[in-house]
Formats: sequence, structure tokens, C-alpha cells
Amino acid sequence: MVDRRLEEPVRRLFFALWPDEAVCNRLQRIVDKLRGQLPARWVPAENFHITLAFLGPVAESGWLRLGRIDPMWPEAFMIRLEDLRLMRRRQMVWIAPRTEPRPLLGLVDVLRAELAPLGMVSRVNEPFCTHLTLARRVTGPWPGLSPFNPIEWTIRSVNLVESVLDRSGVHYLKRNAWRLRAMPLDTSMK
Ligand code: 2AM
Repeated sequence: MVDRRLEEPVRRLFFALWPDEAVCNRLQRIVDKLRGQLPARWVPAENFHITLAFLGPVAESGWLRLGRIDPMWPEAFMIRLEDLRLMRRRQMVWIAPRTEPRPLLGLVDVLRAELAPLGMVSRVNEPFCTHLTLARRVTGPWPGLSPFNPIEWTIRSVNLVESVLDRSGVHYLKRNAWRLRAMPLDTSMK
């Protein structure tokens, strides 16, 4: 993609958390149960993610700087996805933690503080709302779903991702990744 004003190539970028295979499989099982009952555009499993910061189109000089950020990342931590929500106005289905996880909000703060001087991130002053989008363009009433065990997800890394749109849909390409600091060992397990 080329920004015509800048005549510079741009990439659509965002920072996100990507689930591991076990978390992906749990999410997919929920989608499989709902899919036949709720008309929507269901997100394919390879696209499941939680957006931490959306940057939009970024010119080459910007994406090179993004690759070099080096904040003091927090320790790895666990979140629980357990609250399935139909966002009727947005026509989306989200899965989210029941309450905002403090370590995740801390991680977003660290990232926003690093990105703010670069002037690229949108909604930097808006409160963060943790969610993972499972479906878009939802039509029809909520069918309900029998209770499920919370999905426990240990967050160990942050990804810089490029969004590429082609005729087959949107593709997310991981362009960079940063590891969070190691989780402290559980000393109670002696
Ligand atoms: P979502 O997490 O609510 O689905 C890649 O496009 C990701 O960035 C998507 O996950 C999407 O939201 C989020 N996103 C897209 N456009 C955005 C915008 N203008 N502001 C904030 N987030 C956006």
C-alpha cells in the first residue's frame, strides 16, 4: 500500500496478543457451537487475537522505529476469558475477562507510554477494553450458550502485526515479537 500524500509505502500495523494452540482450540470450540445458530462473519482461528494498540497505516520510517522499541516489559501473567458478549450495536461477538485484568492494563500502559512519543497510536487516551473478537456483522438474536470453563491464557509475548487485505479476506502477518519477563517460579510447589 502507498500513501499518496507521502508517496511512501505504508503498512497497517497493530500490537496484539496471539493465543497459543491450546487457547485457540478452546476458542474454536465456542465458535463451532455458535456458528450454526447465529448468522455472522466468524473470525478464522488463525486470526484470533487481542489488540493492545492500533496504529493504522504507518510509513516505512515509522515501522523501522517500532521494530526497535525496548520498553521495560512486565512479567508474564495469566488472564481468563470467560465472558461471552454480544455487542449488538457493533454487531460483534466478543469474549473477554469478567473484569479488566490489572497486569494486562499495566502492559497496555507500558506500550502506550513507549508509543506516545512516536505519535502513531490512536485512542491513546481512551480506557482500554480487553476483548477478543470472535464474530463480526452479527445478525439475529443471541442463541445463548451453555456454561463453559474459563479459558486460561498465559500471556508471554507481544506481537507487532501487519494487516493485509486481499480478495480472500484479511491476513495478519507477525512482523516482530517481544517476550515479557519470565514468570516467577511458584515457590509453593516444592
Ligand atoms: P477488534 O479487536 O475490536 O476486532 C486489526 O484490525 C485489529 O485492530 C482488530 O482486532 C480491530 O479491532 C482493531 N482495530 C481496527 N480498527 C481500529 C481502530 N480504528 N481503532 C482501534 N482498533 C482498531
